[in-house]
Amino acid sequence: MALSTASDVLTVHGGAALSGEVRVRGAKNLVPKAMVAALLGHGTSVLHNVPSISDVRIVTGLLEAHGVSVTRGAAGPNGEPSDTLILDPVSVERASDAAVEAHAGTSRIPVLLCGPLLHRLGRAFIPDLGGCKIGDRPIDFHLDALRAFGAVVEKRPEGLLISAPERLRGTQIRLPYPSVGATEQVLLTAVLAEGVTELSNAATEPEIVDLIAVLQKMGAMVSVHNDRVIRIIGVDRLGGFTHRAIPDRLETASWACAALATGGDIRVVGATQGEMMTFLNVFRRIGGDFEVDDTRGEPSIRFWHSGGQMRALALETDVHPGLSTDWQQPLVVALTQAQGLSIIHETVYEQRLGFTEALNRMGAQIQLYRECLGGSACRFGQRNFMHSAVISGPTKLHGAELTIPDLRAGFSYLIAALAAQGTSTVHGISLIHRGYEDFEAKLSALGADVEMEIPA
Ligand code: EPU
Repeated sequence: MALSTASDVLTVHGGAALSGEVRVRGAKNLVPKAMVAALLGHGTSVLHNVPSISDVRIVTGLLEAHGVSVTRGAAGPNGEPSDTLILDPVSVERASDAAVEAHAGTSRIPVLLCGPLLHRLGRAFIPDLGGCKIGDRPIDFHLDALRAFGAVVEKRPEGLLISAPERLRGTQIRLPYPSVGATEQVLLTAVLAEGVTELSNAATEPEIVDLIAVLQKMGAMVSVHNDRVIRIIGVDRLGGFTHRAIPDRLETASWACAALATGGDIRVVGATQGEMMTFLNVFRRIGGDFEVDDTRGEPSIRFWHSGGQMRALALETDVHPGLSTDWQQPLVVALTQAQGLSIIHETVYEQRLGFTEALNRMGAQIQLYRECLGGSACRFGQRNFMHSAVISGPTKLHGAELTIPDLRAGFSYLIAALAAQGTSTVHGISLIHRGYEDFEAKLSALGADVEMEIPA
């Protein structure tokens, strides 16, 4: 990782119980994809509940490079920025390779532009992808799916050049693993392909269901069947959409774990129960408490530490409706404060437990294993990946110098630093801006003692 600049560093003085209210907006793992879907339509799309995060800015840049106009709605009465985006794809055009390459290494979203660009322009140039370093993260499922639709994939040193010599055709695809991104790739390509596409072993995360809702509003024909099968009947033309993005269940869980680990009490405004159920069960079993308020005004969920000793438990991450891998890292921090031995089996990303080394430097006792512990055997079991952990707790945490390796680990380090005694210096916080809107201000409002280093 590159050395951080002064403004990329947050100093955290730990020890305060976080308490108060924060707002979550639309899901980071839906909003950029809905923005890409707008490229498929012959009409203006309006997306509400858009967070101000860098992933949205990256996709805005990519869409604008392809001639899509992306504007914010009018500011509120007190000048507060609108959380509505208006996307107008009327003059879609080929972007210069340089404009696309400017986004190399920033995010994994560019690969999802393939289908829409192939339909609109017959060609897509995709730069090297970025995103969190939590495993190898290949895109072989994406490319195999695009080939199955009839696209031609050419690997070049500066990126991928994908072309469609003729209209893409519906096809039968079985994913080797229910990948979220590959499922979205198939959806965004199949809706305008000729004929029927049947996708088996599809991911069905809530953000995917919300993307299907967006596509249906545009005129697409998509149905979800039992046993992870999605069937799409291609249409000739799609219109725009008006949609409110589902709330970010992953950010919500991060705040819940911050409340638990610091012995605090946080109401997350905008959060809803439906997509949180698996997490809420775990939260309650560890010793957290929550209250869902969906009867008056804006929905919210309040999370707090119910007092007494937190309880250790065995967890296994999985595709939805299992426990999301993005909930694992903040939960691990909370479990350092639980009584007894907790077991974590990470089955989605082979390297998503590497962040625990820094927690051990803060005083945690976390041991990593290659074996599949505490659950079923997974595809990483016979390979050389440290993808299981045993956490002995409770342990007192103390401040440390931390460098953020990925988005969720980054926020989890902040939770650990807030729960610790003493001061921590956290480097690389711009990674957290990829998915957490305005988190420094939210932390301060909850009573956290954090200082941003101002560049000289
Ligand atoms: N995989 C392949 N080949 C592929 C695609 C995926 O082997 O072509 C493997 C991956 O290496 C991984 C597994 O399949 O082991 C699952 O990956 P998936 O494709 O589901 O992940 P993704 O689409 O790249 C999204 C989220 C992640 C989230 C995962 C799992 C976005 C932008 N990212 O990634 O979010 O962890 O689904 O739910 O939607 C985050 O929010 O911090 C984050 C990393």
